[in-house]
Amino acid sequence: MRREKIILDVDPGHDDAIAILLAARADNLDLRGITVVAGNQILEKTLNNTLNIVNYADLKVPVYKGMAKPLVRKQVTAGHIHGESGLDGPDFPSLTLEAEKKHAVDFIIDEALKAEEGITLVPVGPLTNIAAAILLKPEIKDKINRIVMMGGAYGLGNRTPAAEFNIYADAEAADIIFKSGIDITMVGLDLTFQAQAYPEIIDRISKIGNKVTDLVVELLEFFGSTYQDFYGLKAGPLHDVCAVAKLIDDDVFTTRKMHVDIETDSSLTYGRTVCDYYDVTGKKKNAEVALDLNKEKFWDLLCDILGHYN
Ligand code: RIB
Ligand code: CA
Repeated sequence: MRREKIILDVDPGHDDAIAILLAARADNLDLRGITVVAGNQILEKTLNNTLNIVNYADLKVPVYKGMAKPLVRKQVTAGHIHGESGLDGPDFPSLTLEAEKKHAVDFIIDEALKAEEGITLVPVGPLTNIAAAILLKPEIKDKINRIVMMGGAYGLGNRTPAAEFNIYADAEAADIIFKSGIDITMVGLDLTFQAQAYPEIIDRISKIGNKVTDLVVELLEFFGSTYQDFYGLKAGPLHDVCAVAKLIDDDVFTTRKMHVDIETDSSLTYGRTVCDYYDVTGKKKNAEVALDLNKEKFWDLLCDILGHYN
């Protein structure tokens, strides 16, 4: 089987952590490295959280430290959802694992240039690292086969009424990506809120009964509690896991190609992914936007792969 070369770009974040665990054990994916960006928390915390996950699950995947601040705007974080550490809930063993010396942006550039058949980028946090790599070395656009990203929404936002957090946290970076001409699959909130980890799902994962699923249960229980407190929802949606799932089984959700613009000027709607669902503008369609989740396929896929851990 040809394994798709990917780089996972993360800002752990509870859902990022589970996305890492899924990508690392998917038979059809060659996870070349994990690049870390500031997002849910400041970079020192998202990096520490990433190293903790890689160390705890013994993933043996290199981790690269990336951009600490958005390209232009003032930094925002999401401690109200992910806690002060960015990964509140579980306690991790003492950490000796360190990030690679190379900067994440240089890693993305080098991996893209040396990938004979190209590479897939899977950003599930703010798009700062990806945009910086394209700005620094525009020729990598020809080596990036596709970007499958968690972010945006054609409906409601979650950080503002108009904007989803990953886009809102660096809309200028997102604008660079959506104007890059690279094939994009946009996995937005309209899709990811269909992947809420209700108690019966947590129970199903708990019954798998390995050390990684024990960790996933702790992550989901904390994540669900903050979604209850902040949004009044009964469970946390596995936003980032949906993006990785699409790489593993393309039928896990449907998409619709449309033109997507990023709002970077308005004080009211900054960070909105303006999705031309009905093609009223006639503009070139630049993204496959996620629509409907096959929930049975999604949860089966996640539980099957989490069962690969011992
Ligand atoms: O809006 C959801 C996104 O913001 C997810 O990627 C979550 O991890 C946070 O980064
Ligand atoms: Ca994330």
